[in-house]
Amino acid sequence: MKRVIIVTFRDEWSKRTEEVQEILYRYLPEETGYQKTLLQAMNYSMQAGGKRLRPLLMQETYRLFGGTGRIVEPFMAAMEMIHTHSLIHDDLPAMDNDEYRRGRKTTHIVYGEAMAILAGDGLLNLAYETASRAFEMEPENPAVGKAMAVLARKTGITGMIGGQSVDVEQSGKDLSRGQLDFIYRLKTSALIEGSMMVGAILAGASADEAAQIEQVASDVGLAFQIRDDILDVTSTSQVLGKPINSDEKNHKTTYVTMEGLKKAEKDVKEISGRAIDVLDQLGRKNEFLRNLILELVIREK
Ligand code: IPE
Ligand code: IPE
Ligand code: MG
Ligand code: MG
Ligand code: MG
Repeated sequence: MKRVIIVTFRDEWSKRTEEVQEILYRYLPEETGYQKTLLQAMNYSMQAGGKRLRPLLMQETYRLFGGTGRIVEPFMAAMEMIHTHSLIHDDLPAMDNDEYRRGRKTTHIVYGEAMAILAGDGLLNLAYETASRAFEMEPENPAVGKAMAVLARKTGITGMIGGQSVDVEQSGKDLSRGQLDFIYRLKTSALIEGSMMVGAILAGASADEAAQIEQVASDVGLAFQIRDDILDVTSTSQVLGKPINSDEKNHKTTYVTMEGLKKAEKDVKEISGRAIDVLDQLGRKNEFLRNLILELVIREK
């Protein structure tokens, strides 16, 4: 019986990821004009695949709060653009200096460093252009402006970019547990918080509900980053589609170097359990979203 449930969930996960992917593709730029190389470099990374987790979480949170329309779609595409921008820049020689991502050579290896910087910038800016299309779809809807503000805040200096800055600055140094938590909550949780909050806000969630979802997402993100650290030392580059031992190469203090593998595995479970408890307290139902959060604990890539 358990096996049947797992198979069904995994099938459903693939199906919904495909649907998300179709939405994202509709917002990608056409590769024409004198700036064609830039556009190719942007699409190269966006089309390389990836789990599409953030737009999926956005859509499922939208559904959790009863959303049924299409206003969430430009925001889904925008979030995946922001995330992909963060990966292109994270892989640059000046940052983690990695050569593989999503099963392909990284953007800076294929297009050169200057073009990779610009492709990241291009995606970050296109994200806001894309999200702002929601204003044309529903000019009277006050949730669109609120969602836009959250998207920007969770990406910026108090969100992902702020976290990445501390991550690179502290590379090679010993960190306190407080510093490590700060980095993880910003560099990784912030975009997951933004994703789930935007979904909630667009579906009409109250400020209290959005705050609860932020708490859920913060723990989902923390568990996700710890699992990423675990896979960096236990997986293979074939399975991950990106190099293993990147953290060691960059002399990073990670959750695994700080707490050990066993405790890291235990904590991923515990932190995700905490997220599920808060989710359940909302008194709303989305079984798929609940299963997705649980499945991320044991993800292999
Ligand atoms: C990688 O994110 C960066 C981290 C925050 C660990 P994902 O593991 O979601 O990467 P893709 O989108 O599936 O490639
Ligand atoms: C990435 O952390 C967080 C980002 C905002 C990109 P990592 O540097 O551990 O991500 P990977 O392992 O390269 O995907
Ligand atoms: Mg990094
Ligand atoms: Mg990296
Ligand atoms: Mg990593």
